[in-house]
Amino acid sequence: MRLYTRSAGEGLPVVLLHAFPLSSAMWLAQREGLAEVCKVITPDLRGFGGSVLGGDDPSLDVMADDVVRLLDSEGVDRAVVGGLSMGGYVTMALCRRHPDRLLGVILADTKAGADPEAARSNRERIAAAVLQEGASVLLKELLPGLVGQTTVRSRAMVFGRVRGLVQSAPPTAAAWAQRAMAGRPDSFDTLRAIKTPVLVIVGEEDEITPPAEADAMVEAVPDGRLTVIEKAGHLSAIEQPEAFNRAVAEFVAELAGGSAPRG
Ligand code: MLT
Repeated sequence: MRLYTRSAGEGLPVVLLHAFPLSSAMWLAQREGLAEVCKVITPDLRGFGGSVLGGDDPSLDVMADDVVRLLDSEGVDRAVVGGLSMGGYVTMALCRRHPDRLLGVILADTKAGADPEAARSNRERIAAAVLQEGASVLLKELLPGLVGQTTVRSRAMVFGRVRGLVQSAPPTAAAWAQRAMAGRPDSFDTLRAIKTPVLVIVGEEDEITPPAEADAMVEAVPDGRLTVIEKAGHLSAIEQPEAFNRAVAEFVAELAGGSAPRG
């Protein structure tokens, strides 16, 4: 399984993992805006974009191992690994399974808790429906919450772009990923054990993983810093790319200028 990957820039490797049900296309502004400060590596997680789904059972661990194989194939020993929402869950799985591959961690618009039972059954319902009815289910059920009120009200182009990305999600990958997310464990112990610096980012209007989730993550990690992005919802990297990129660039500068990671 080799992940289709788009990369830009040179220098410190920074892997960014996309949200559900999007693809590496969501990181366009990060590839453009961060290429001057680091090497931005943005894979399509399995089943999405140009990556095939494969025959494994749904699991975020499998997705995390895919990313580590990508690092191996790129000849990258350690990288900053970050993800937005589902990408954040995959990042936490990677922190749990491959801590020695990390230089730093970015957790954007995501959360560390496991799903309560009601959320798990809702994911199974969406998985079954998307397999039967296609991506229109995702548009109806998920699109409204993906961006913040400011974007809905005043940025029709951005909202339209997100709609297009959601519409092109392959139903088999969407169902697989819903089941993978349903099975994820609580990650607070994983966060407590992270030995590298951690940047937590959240859109102030994020209703799916609200700022309180970000506060809980930043409190759990030993070396955390928090950036709250104004006028952005759940997809902060798409809604306010300049503010998002500024936070990542500062973090990269801190890592590049700082001492080697502990442990
Ligand atoms: C995402 O944006 O990746 C999803 O909202 C994550 C989730 O369903 O928990």
